Amino acid sequence: MIELVLIGIGTGNPEHLTLQAIREINAADLILIPRKGSDKADLADLRRRICQQVLQNLQTRIVEFDMPVRRAADRDYLRGVDDWHDAIAEIWTTTIHAQLPAGGTVALLVWGDPSLYDSTLRIAARLAPRPVVRSIPGLMSLNVLAAAHAIGLNDVGAPFLVTTGRQLRGHGWPAGIETIVVMLDGECSFRQIDPAGVTIHWGAFVGMPGQILLSGPLAETGPAIVEARQAARAEHGWLMDIYLLRRAIAPQDQSPAAATPG
Ligand SMILES: C[S@@+](CC[C@H](N)C(=O)[O-])C[C@H]1O[C@@H](n2cnc3c(N)ncnc32)[C@H](O)[C@@H]1O
Repeated sequence: MIELVLIGIGTGNPEHLTLQAIREINAADLILIPRKGSDKADLADLRRRICQQVLQNLQTRIVEFDMPVRRAADRDYLRGVDDWHDAIAEIWTTTIHAQLPAGGTVALLVWGDPSLYDSTLRIAARLAPRPVVRSIPGLMSLNVLAAAHAIGLNDVGAPFLVTTGRQLRGHGWPAGIETIVVMLDGECSFRQIDPAGVTIHWGAFVGMPGQILLSGPLAETGPAIVEARQAARAEHGWLMDIYLLRRAIAPQDQSPAAATPG
């Protein structure tokens, strides 16, 4: 029997690892590390370093595998992702059965938390025969962004929405929500919304040594973020960023619920 453990490792700071994550890393028979070629964004180095730092079990094997390349199928985005997940599931299956023919525990070190904009759980569901799957929580980029700016994610008693750059570009500011967190945005989609009354809290490489933070009114800070992104991408060759947008609520729109401390 195969047990597959998806271990959330936080967003790049080895100090994000929980005691539970360290215990699970050491309990694994096999750790799979994905490689995306020469692209630094594959973060394979960081995963290797984490293993060097916390792995004490000499029986645990570390095996790297090459990630299949995703087809650039912008017109049929979901189909492209689906095919890609199938291809990854096939590589996992082949590697796991070659390494653990008699069964055992396989771990994957998942960026942030496995539940947030991450496909590992969905890919795991495609494996046949189906392994026992466990998910170990990790710090998410949105926690780390909020901590870096020392801000709350929600306004008093109010909801917030986590979405993607693609959604923000396609559908604009969602109705009934004053705070949105935007991830997976390679295109500075905040440029497409009306900046009046909107504050942005932006972070690149949050929790990592090269962390960059900018915040302020969107009208002025937006162009500074576009520049900072370009400079960081030129320097590092890749970039990962996330931001929170908050719209001031007009006093007449505040509901009585907003007066309840939350
Ligand atoms: C595929 S998702 C993975 C999210 C991850 N599972 C989590 O819990 O945060 C990748 C997106 O997460 C955000 N992200 C992850 N790590 C980040 C970091 N260190 N700094 C800024 N954004 C980050 C970015 O928006 C990036 O495009």
